[in-house]
Formats: sequence, structure tokens, C-alpha cells
Amino acid sequence: MSKIILITGTSTGVGLHTASMLAARGNTVYASMRDVSKQDHLVQLTKNYPAYIHILPLDVQKEETIKECIKTIIDKEKRIDVLINNAGAGFIRTLEQATMEEIHNVMDVNFYGPIRCIKAVLPAMRQQNKGHIINVSSVGGLVGQPINEIYCAAKFALEGLTESIATYLEPYFGIKTSIIEPAGITTEFGNNLMNYFNNTGGIRKDEYSPLLNDYMAYRQTFTDELKAKIFQTAEQVAQVIVDCISDPAPKLRYLTSQYAAEFTYLKSGLDGDGSNLQSIIRKRILNK
Ligand SMILES: NC(=O)c1ccc[n+]([C@@H]2O[C@H](COP(=O)([O-])OP(=O)(O)OC[C@H]3O[C@@H](n4cnc5c(N)ncnc54)[C@H](OP(=O)(O)O)[C@@H]3O)[C@@H](O)[C@H]2O)c1
Repeated sequence: MSKIILITGTSTGVGLHTASMLAARGNTVYASMRDVSKQDHLVQLTKNYPAYIHILPLDVQKEETIKECIKTIIDKEKRIDVLINNAGAGFIRTLEQATMEEIHNVMDVNFYGPIRCIKAVLPAMRQQNKGHIINVSSVGGLVGQPINEIYCAAKFALEGLTESIATYLEPYFGIKTSIIEPAGITTEFGNNLMNYFNNTGGIRKDEYSPLLNDYMAYRQTFTDELKAKIFQTAEQVAQVIVDCISDPAPKLRYLTSQYAAEFTYLKSGLDGDGSNLQSIIRKRILNK
């Protein structure tokens, strides 16, 4: 059945391709972006089915833009079936080097942003007794990695939140919840975080320079050849999200590639899709 879907961060990457693929399948897609002057690529990708795509401004850091966007959808469609919290941004710098402003910003985009969107759709989804919330996390939401600690902390927080609300949203309100966990994706994400890092001093002459040098040497091992083997394209990750939405019984967790599953194995190996732990916690605490 065709669904009414809101997705954040559709100017590029995974969001762009997810919005386009969902519209191509006849869903009504509200493709939001914080800067709608970046819509050309999405308009081009969806030029054969423009009736299914509506581009709206939404900055996950600005609550009023979220409320406005959801009001527009509810006024027109009278329901909202799926929220995809896709918008996000990476950040590399050690905890001690990062300023509190930078830390707040990373948490705001990757954690408080999805929280704002979830809070805004829940009244409508509860009333419908139906809905699906999909949060795009990362293998960094399961496995802490050096120099990525602030980003990983934000995605861990998103994972903890999602895993917790999943325990009651479905049994009490009919709302499904899923987490998407990709490893590397060939989008602008990596370039954006490297640009920010380099524009804010790169490897500074401080006690952390040996650590950062080692980390950069590790990043340099990611040649185009290796990336072709272990990274995914935005389209491949988008396909996982599309499949998750069309699954009548979606899982809690989707590790999007074999590499993502291997990378997180010591954390995810016993309960890869999260269903065992969900049923144990639902039973133990809620008797559901
Ligand atoms: N790429 C990877 O290696 C990787 C790996 C694991 C998980 N992920 C996750 O996958 C998701 C998609 O990332 P991607 O790889 O597609 O990266 P991307 O191409 O950089 O796309 C990120 C999107 O988020 C948007 N965004 C950033 N801040 C925003 C804000 N305040 N409000 C609304 N939108 C905002 C960006 O908009 P602008 O164009 O305006 O900046 C862009 O549309 C993210 O949640 C990311 O954490 C990525």
C-alpha cells in the first residue's frame, strides 16, 4: 500500500536516494531538507513521478520547522505513516580537543534532531494506532571508535533511545521502530567531516598529534579499491530502508552490509536484528 512518508536530510546521499526510490514505488514522500535551494538533484531524480514527491524545508535543529512540516502533512493527508530520521553529520576530534559548542552541535544534529522529529509525529501516530519510525544510526552506534567518540556517543544515544521506545510503542500504540546501521557509505559525509577537521586546524601540534597521525594513516588505507569492496553506495543503503518500510514485520535493527555485521559482531552477533532482546525486555518489564 502507498504510504505517507516524511524523511529528513534529502539534499544528498542516503536521504536523496531513499526519497527518490520511495516515490518511484508510488509512496507519497515528503522529502525535507534544511536548505531547499539544494533540491535540484532530487527534482531531477524524480522527474518522472513528480506527483509523489513534495519538497519541504526542515532543519532538525529548528523545532518550529519540524512542527510546520508535520502540520502541512497532517492538514493535507490526515495521517503520517513513516518518519525516517536520516539527517546526520560526522565529526572527528578527540574529546579533549573538541569544544563544548562542537559537542553540543554533534549531539544536536544526530540525537536531539531525531528526538524533535519523533516527538512531533507521535501524537498523530498514536491517534492512528499505526506508524513506523526509522532512525538512521551507524555501526558507530554500536562500536566506539577512536577520534569518533563524539559522533559515536550521539549514535549510541540514538540507539539507546530507539531500543527503549521500541519496547512500548508497538505493543501499546501499534507503532513500529527500526534502526538502520550502515558502515562506510560513498556519500559526501566523509568529505564534509574531513573538510571541517582540516578547516579547524587539522592535526594540531599538541599531545594528540601521534594519535591523530595513526588515525589518518588508518584512513589512508581506505583506497578506492578497498572502498569498492566494503563501502556501500547511498542507493544500496536506501534499498535497505525501502525494504524495511515494505516489510509487514520490520526488524528493530538492520545492519546494512556483511561488513557492517562483521564490524559489530562482538556486539551484534547474538542478536543481530534485536528481536530476542526486545522480546525479553518487553516480557520482563511490561509482561507483553
Ligand atoms: N556516509 C557514511 O559513511 C555513513 C555511515 C554510517 C551512517 N551514516 C549516517 O547516514 C545518514 C545519512 O548520511 P549520508 O551518508 O547520506 O551523508 P550526507 O550525504 O552528508 O547527507 C547528510 C544529510 O543530512 C543533512 N543535514 C545535516 N544537518 C542537517 C540539519 N541540521 N537539518 C536537516 N538536515 C541536515 C544534510 O543536508 P545539507 O546538504 O544541508 O548539509 C544532508 O542532506 C546520517 O545519519 C549518517 O550519520 C553515514
